[in-house]
Amino acid sequence: MLEVKNLSTFYGKIQALWDVSFSIKESEIMALVGANGAGKTTLLNTISGLLRPTSGSISFLGKRIDGLSPHTIVEMGVSHIPEGRKLFADMSVRENLEMGAYANRAWKNKGETLEQVYRLFPALKERESQLARTLSGGEQQMLAMGRGLMSRPKLCIIDEPSNGLAPKLVLEVFQIIKSLRDQGITILLVEQNVRHTLETADCACILENGRLALEGTCSALLEMEHVKKAYLGL
Ligand SMILES: Nc1ncnc2c1ncn2[C@@H]1O[C@H](COP(=O)(O)OP(=O)(O)OP(=O)(O)O)[C@@H](O)[C@H]1O
Ligand SMILES: [Mg+2]
Repeated sequence: MLEVKNLSTFYGKIQALWDVSFSIKESEIMALVGANGAGKTTLLNTISGLLRPTSGSISFLGKRIDGLSPHTIVEMGVSHIPEGRKLFADMSVRENLEMGAYANRAWKNKGETLEQVYRLFPALKERESQLARTLSGGEQQMLAMGRGLMSRPKLCIIDEPSNGLAPKLVLEVFQIIKSLRDQGITILLVEQNVRHTLETADCACILENGRLALEGTCSALLEMEHVKKAYLGL
């Protein structure tokens, strides 16, 4: 579904990604793990068109998307749920969700999609006229995910959804991500919670200092000495 080849991205003269290649199959959860500053957000932002790669290519469903605008990439079926949620703080829950449906692919079905999102996140329905900034951290993450789903994505890119959440909510977020996969949405998930992530996802890539260090199925990665020592504290 997504194929990233030899991707390099710079901030000015500083290189943040070095020759990264990996691919994602339809209806799987691919996790991207790595330490602070490894380049995870940079990679997601490059895929969703917020950053332009200096070299390499990105194909989605067989079409090149590198160099296209973020808006066009959303229209093609890629939704990016950003790090830090980036909600419209002074807009209501419902308005935030509607902002997610502006893509042509989603606008005409927005009522139906809204119902689906409310079924997935009943707390959002209860709070639909509340301002986003008055929600708890967990509810804000649900709203960010709901808004991302309003564009009816085929591929959902999610950056650190469990950040700052209580352990019970972290489990809930991982359950929701699995249920999205089971509904046929492909997921690219960035997380620092390596154990949980490798137990939830199908495959994973490990980024170290902007380079792809390891890629494989989660069950294989969980058995690797380097992963156990560097990421699982074993
Ligand atoms: N806007 C920017 N300008 C310059 N350098 C940046 C910018 N954003 C990120 N960087 C640098 O690029 C590298 C990768 O950062 P990135 O945010 O992609 O890492 P990350 O893996 O998402 O980290 P975290 O886990 O903290 O979110 C880091 O060295 C960071 O300092
Ligand atoms: Mg990041």
